Amino acid sequence: MERRDCDALVLFGATGDLCFKKIYPALYHLVRRGLLTIPVIGVARQGCDVKWLAARVRDSVKASVKDPDEAVTTRLTGLLRYVDGDYNDRSTFEGLKQALGESKRPLFYLAIPPSMFEVVVEHLSATGGAQAGRVVIEKPFGHDLATARELNRTLHAHFPESSIFRIDHYLGKEAVQNLLFFRFANSFLEPVWNRNFVASVQVTMAESIGIAGRGKFYEETGAIRDVIQNHLLQIVALLTMEPPVNADGESLRDEKVKLLKAVRPVTPADLVRGQFQGYREEPGVAAGSQVETYAALALAVDSWRWSGVPFYLRAGKRLPVSATEVVVELRPPPANVFGDLAPEQPNHVRFRVGPDVAIALGAHTKKPGPVMTGRDVELYVAQQQGDDMDAYEVLISSALIGDTAHFAREDEVEAAWKIVDPVLNAAAPPLQYLPGSWGPPQAEELLKGPCGWHNPGARPQDWTRSCGR
Ligand code: BG6
Repeated sequence: MERRDCDALVLFGATGDLCFKKIYPALYHLVRRGLLTIPVIGVARQGCDVKWLAARVRDSVKASVKDPDEAVTTRLTGLLRYVDGDYNDRSTFEGLKQALGESKRPLFYLAIPPSMFEVVVEHLSATGGAQAGRVVIEKPFGHDLATARELNRTLHAHFPESSIFRIDHYLGKEAVQNLLFFRFANSFLEPVWNRNFVASVQVTMAESIGIAGRGKFYEETGAIRDVIQNHLLQIVALLTMEPPVNADGESLRDEKVKLLKAVRPVTPADLVRGQFQGYREEPGVAAGSQVETYAALALAVDSWRWSGVPFYLRAGKRLPVSATEVVVELRPPPANVFGDLAPEQPNHVRFRVGPDVAIALGAHTKKPGPVMTGRDVELYVAQQQGDDMDAYEVLISSALIGDTAHFAREDEVEAAWKIVDPVLNAAAPPLQYLPGSWGPPQAEELLKGPCGWHNPGARPQDWTRSCGR
């Protein structure tokens, strides 16, 4: 990859929540690591100034970083500049141009509502910013397939695809990258990673928090748009795609797109939607809201490698734990040599994608003693939490050097929308579930094999339904 580094970072929405919660803490760490030395220009329409912005950045760092180093915070605030103005007003962008001075390749980060994307990119284009600059946009990339296409058309009118960096923060996570690495840096997995050996695949993204005051946002989104169309389908793609020719952005994305195109669009019969009791009382939520805070679905991948293997995905708010896990169940041995005494759980590979990073191989070993009876064990490797880069650090530093590997490409986003598009306007109301439960019990009926859902956090011995053969 040819490195062409950006020489200024422009943050639209500099006074907003995303900057406060995610972007400023990431910038602090990038400064600490010596990876950020360029000007950071905040743009907002708050009627404030650079001193106010610096105070906000300090507050954000204090709120997110344990024992922040004052010298680092001062280095960060020393990089700040500020442009105030309305995004509808061309003079805001003239002011930005002045603030950019001699900058040849700015990175424009749009931490603003999607409804403002178009007007901002048009003004950037008109004032010359789009020619050499790059643009970072946050999800949601559209509301469905049609609006995603529309958004891509708008962006492409001003920026080439190679300059557009669509953030799916799961792609910046250490554990998600590890999934890719583990698959393709080892040779022992490949022979079994197909329909001949894999019985089924489950991906669960459980969150114990609710909608955390984001009622208005969530009412327009729901679990499928919020996390399944993007985070979970990205995990499925990395888990199942063919080996890429190398690790560069385009090669990875080519393989992910091929895989996503092979996933059959979901039908209502393959979906269970749920809503936690009490959701409708949250601020910003309609009294009769039909929005799902939980979704479980079955997917089929019509490819040579995966045909016939069921994929089960689920994501929900107010579940018992916060954890994201993948479980790949392997088929049982062809003959049961040890008779009834064989263990009950399937061989499996378990990837824990969050909050911590772990990989486990589920196997059967002999229970010590005179009888040939087995027990379930997991060969388990957990990554110690070190000074790992947070997803936003990875993503911002990658965009600054022009590395597209951790970002979603246009065709990838559209292929993912195609999969969920048929069920976005589900007619059936969501099923109510108790906060703190694992969602509507009807989700169990989606599973066709002998096993139930594997709840993250539980040891395989405690998985909901016995996988007895
Ligand atoms: C975001 C969703 O993309 O991901 C949130 O909008 C969700 O609803 C969040 O809570 C989860 O991210 P993480 O990194 O905590 O798993």
